[in-house]
Amino acid sequence: MAVVISVANQKGGVGKTTLTMNLAYALSAMGRKVLVVDIDPQFNLTFGLIGMDVLQYGNSNVGTLMTRESDIEDTIVEVRENLHLVPSHLNLSAKEIEIINAYNRERRLEKALLPVLPDYDYVLIDNPPSMGIFLVNSLTASDYVLIPLELSYFGVIGMQLMFNLMRMIRQETNENLKLLGLVPNKFTRQTKVPKMRLKELRETYPDAPILTTIPKAIALEKAQSQGMSIFEFEGDGRAARAFKKLAREVVEIVEG
Ligand SMILES: Nc1ncnc2c1ncn2[C@@H]1O[C@H](COP(=O)(O)OP(=O)(O)O)[C@@H](O)[C@H]1O
Ligand SMILES: [Mg+2]
Repeated sequence: MAVVISVANQKGGVGKTTLTMNLAYALSAMGRKVLVVDIDPQFNLTFGLIGMDVLQYGNSNVGTLMTRESDIEDTIVEVRENLHLVPSHLNLSAKEIEIINAYNRERRLEKALLPVLPDYDYVLIDNPPSMGIFLVNSLTASDYVLIPLELSYFGVIGMQLMFNLMRMIRQETNENLKLLGLVPNKFTRQTKVPKMRLKELRETYPDAPILTTIPKAIALEKAQSQGMSIFEFEGDGRAARAFKKLAREVVEIVEG
């Protein structure tokens, strides 16, 4: 039975898509069956995984899944062994109004995923950087939240917004939602600031598990722009090692 993990942060550009993509690859390389769900109207993850094929799925994507115009079985795309995708699409933002006005609007994704949970070990959901119906659906469907963040002043204090949102979701739609952990991203030793912020992060949120730190690496940016995971692009580099370590850490927490 799959464990569902939302990769979320209401800030853009912090590494949600990068984390979802590379964690999914690392877990699938460890033999886990992984389904990734792209619920961001900007479809960066979908583009990263299947390129221009994204255009083919106008009638079977995460939006049509939530409006029940497509079934989950017809919406899943096989990317490679152990790695499947529910794609996003250009037309997803147009579905937002329809979903907002639909019955049981917060549970559309949860319900749609239910039949395939026995087929996977992990479902990873890449989220938009906004607090709307898509993120609410995602958190309602999830067991855990994984939060990438940058070690900047606003990055650290911005965590409060995510924690508030998680509290609201626990009260309203999903009392079992847990924090898997914070993943400091784009870490650099070139100045002392990130290290100082890491300490601040620990002190400000003592109960939040802080997981493997991901270094700032141009290779990650290049890999993403070429639609590759870091393992395909530079499998022996620092960034790939960090994502492997993170995947092992996630497995240990989730599988015990
Ligand atoms: N550790 C990193 N080092 C260097 N660049 C990174 C790193 N993580 C993400 N990036 C780059 O930062 C940009 C934003 O990352 P992305 O994963 O798209 O963020 P989000 O999905 O949160 O908006 C992308 O260009 C990505 O390649
Ligand atoms: Mg993104």
